[in-house]
Amino acid sequence: MSTLVRNCWYVAGWSHDIGRTPVQRMLLGEPVVLYRREDGVPVALEDRCAHRLAPLSMGRIEGDAIRCLYHGFLFETGGQCRQIPGQDVVPPGTCVRTYPVCEKNSWVWVWMGDPDRADPSRIASSKALDDPDWILKTGQLDYDANYQLINDNLLDLTHLAYVHAASFGADAAWSRNRPRIERIAEGVRSSRWIADSPPIPPLGEAAHHDRVDIWTSYDFVLPGVFLLYTAIYPAGTAQACNGEAPGDGQVILFDNFTSQAVVPTGERTSRYYYSWGPGSRFGDDAIAQVMIDTATLAFREDKLMIEAQQRIIDADPTRLPRPATADRAITIFQRLMKSQDCPTAPPS
Ligand code: FES
Ligand SMILES: [Fe+2]
Repeated sequence: MSTLVRNCWYVAGWSHDIGRTPVQRMLLGEPVVLYRREDGVPVALEDRCAHRLAPLSMGRIEGDAIRCLYHGFLFETGGQCRQIPGQDVVPPGTCVRTYPVCEKNSWVWVWMGDPDRADPSRIASSKALDDPDWILKTGQLDYDANYQLINDNLLDLTHLAYVHAASFGADAAWSRNRPRIERIAEGVRSSRWIADSPPIPPLGEAAHHDRVDIWTSYDFVLPGVFLLYTAIYPAGTAQACNGEAPGDGQVILFDNFTSQAVVPTGERTSRYYYSWGPGSRFGDDAIAQVMIDTATLAFREDKLMIEAQQRIIDADPTRLPRPATADRAITIFQRLMKSQDCPTAPPS
């Protein structure tokens, strides 16, 4: 049975990767061609010519239309074929599927489900790459694994102490200490202090402290978007805040933000997009580069584990996982995902 959920906005690529040359993206196992109209607005069409099913992404943009470069059929942005070379009449129904598409915060998003339910206000609020408050760099990784395994990984950060001890330098507190989990409109929020922790370089001013308190809070929202804010404070701040979220009055040493999107390209393949970087008050381009390099190293650690996990699952799909208390956010989110394709699914 398919695990792919249609009624969601999926990241189809970075804004800077979609231009006047058509590109193919696989989304939920479907080939989609993306390009920009002359006025810059992105277009998403089925990447399968109505004639003999060649990919339109190998075609040519002509004004706002796209011409298949196999036998020359020309398609409008609305999917209709306008011209068949050497034939006066275009038979009705000669068209390709179109997808609702939206551009927000440096990502191009495509709605893969019922077009009548495509509401752009439900697109996740990630940080744009030109947001002046952050210095962000980007990366992406392809997985040979079902997207849910990557979502599950991000919804339970107890794995940091084991998978990322080398890259992020995470210690055992990450698995001992349980976050506060809250249900939010489009997903789950997970927040906590990691108190009295060694600072992890590069942390700017925080690197001059032996021990620090780390506040982390992330929203994990439909259909697999991870928005994590991390801030570093002098040791003792967590206690002064009674374990609650830090207020504006606290001395802050460093902060950073990461936006990440998990995209099912197929049932057993996924693409993972991410940006990360320091707050512009505390970091610079060099720190941002070290952070994205560290993150890329860490995400390769996740990939190694998750792809190995997928192979074990495939060896006997009848074996089911046994949840632990740290899996609560996973359970909530999986239920929410499943509800998206129900006709009466509420948005929250
Ligand atoms: S396959 Fe596209 S024009 Fe023939
Ligand atoms: Fe990880």
